[in-house]
Amino acid sequence: MSTMLEKSVLPSRFLFCLIIVSMFFLILSSWFLLQFSNNSFVTSSVFKVILVNSTSVYINPYRKSEQSKPPFFSSAASPNYNKEPMRSQQVASQNSSSSKRSGSLGQDKGKTGDPNQALLRVYMYDLPAEFHFGLLGWKGSANQMWPDVGNPNQIPRYPGGLNLQHSMEYWLTLDLLSSETPNVVRPCSAIRVQNSSQADIIFVPFFSSLSYNKYSKIHGKEKVSVNRKLQDRLVAFLKDQDEWKRLGGKNHLIMAHHPNSMLIARRKLATAMFLLADFGRYPVEIANLEKDVITPYKHVVRTIAASDSAPFERRPILVYFQGAIYRKDGGAIRQELYYLLKDEKDVHFTFGSIQAKGIHLAAQGMASSKFCLNIAGDTPSSNRLFDAIASHCVPVIISDDIELPFEDVLNYSEFCIFVRASDAVKRGFLLKLLRGIKQDKWTKMWERLKQVVKHFEYQYPSQPGDAVNMIWEAVSHKVSLIQFEVHRKNRYHRHQLVGKTG
Ligand SMILES: *[C@@H]1O[C@H](CO)[C@@H](O)[C@H](O)[C@H]1NC(C)=O
Ligand SMILES: *[C@@H]1O[C@H](CO)[C@@H](O)[C@H](O)[C@H]1NC(C)=O
Ligand SMILES: *[C@@H]1O[C@H](CO)[C@@H](O)[C@H](O)[C@H]1NC(C)=O
Ligand SMILES: *[C@@H]1O[C@H](CO)[C@@H](O)[C@H](O)[C@H]1NC(C)=O
Repeated sequence: MSTMLEKSVLPSRFLFCLIIVSMFFLILSSWFLLQFSNNSFVTSSVFKVILVNSTSVYINPYRKSEQSKPPFFSSAASPNYNKEPMRSQQVASQNSSSSKRSGSLGQDKGKTGDPNQALLRVYMYDLPAEFHFGLLGWKGSANQMWPDVGNPNQIPRYPGGLNLQHSMEYWLTLDLLSSETPNVVRPCSAIRVQNSSQADIIFVPFFSSLSYNKYSKIHGKEKVSVNRKLQDRLVAFLKDQDEWKRLGGKNHLIMAHHPNSMLIARRKLATAMFLLADFGRYPVEIANLEKDVITPYKHVVRTIAASDSAPFERRPILVYFQGAIYRKDGGAIRQELYYLLKDEKDVHFTFGSIQAKGIHLAAQGMASSKFCLNIAGDTPSSNRLFDAIASHCVPVIISDDIELPFEDVLNYSEFCIFVRASDAVKRGFLLKLLRGIKQDKWTKMWERLKQVVKHFEYQYPSQPGDAVNMIWEAVSHKVSLIQFEVHRKNRYHRHQLVGKTG
């Protein structure tokens, strides 16, 4: 027995040392892990801010669900405003057959003006005017940062025509400004706050689509275009802000609706949340559904009043399409469909992009058609879909890669037909499908179109459930996800802090 004991002495000593050493490494490595995970995310000073009072983080997603819905002020309550609803072209859909319905969808969640009641608290950088309204020719008086949006005569007008499609940046910015203007009655989805630490999201008021449309060409002796200069300056500005450094830009909202806007800056600002028309020209690491929000084009045809909308039997054209022809990328399908459909008598299929003077004709055509084709062009989306919706013409979407605005709350199958590109080019497939949709089924979709059309209206002042408010709502959903991530990464920080101070 004793010999056995002696034999085991040496190994057990060795074992003991081994355990001590490995425990040491274990502790060391977990310490490193903690340090590293902190540094990779945000600086530790930010953690302190969050930890000292966990309720005072910039993001507060559950607030809205706890609240009962307060009354909102009807548009009738602002007589000085509604005389001049700014929609550039179309009649305000103040007529409430469309605005009454739609359950809880996109309705305002708060009283006008109370940041604590708002769905989204937004801090907006005071960028120089050349980034936003200056692009529209606006010059403020000395010390005036922003146009006085309480006075309709002072609001710079957005250029009409096809530029309007991407004007989302303009309507959102006006809406934020009006949240601080007492005489403007609007839903209280988003409220501008003056202290960024109280904000759920940081808004970058750069009219990037307008900048692309108007200033991407080099003029005169310029070496680089104004559009490029603005983007370079924006990147430099943002990277220098404490607000940006806080979460590496994740809490920033950047508008880039035109597919070619922000071309220079997009990669450098890729951590931010983008508002986009689609992902067609974005690599997935720069823009994706997880962090970004798809927003509607502003339709260029006039919205048909529900009472004027032609029913099934008064729409003689079965299928309508007008658009440019593309031979590259996903656009080749347009040409194939053209040869399949051009000789059908109840089909209107013409090429040629709609010019400003053609908008009126296109509007008439769509309003007299049962179905309107939305075929992938050089990008998966186009404003044609929103023109169809405004015309109450049932959209037929032939674009496999399209992403649609607000699809988390809207069931597009209720008012759109989806056809895979591979099916659409089969001889006879499309017309057989569409002719097979009889009056009652079509009418159901048409009725639904008349209900949802308000979700695609950009207007000022904004109205409950319109595009502006739907966008704020979609952004607030993404904000919840950001906060989820912040909190998760934050789990162990409290213990570390306690250890250091105590
Ligand atoms: C956190 O802030 C809220 C109000 O912002 C306050 O009521 C609460 O007492 C604070 N909590 C701590 C631990 O400071
Ligand atoms: C507005 O609604 C009323 C009744 O709800 C209807 O009689 C009227 O025709 C509508 N007007 C428009 C422009 O839709
Ligand atoms: C912004 O809010 C934070 C915390 O609520 C506060 O400490 C800070 O002083 C405020 N800044 C300004 C400029 O009011
Ligand atoms: C969406 O709408 C389609 C067409 O009305 C319907 O068949 C489908 O069940 C709906 N989906 C959901 C999840 O409600």
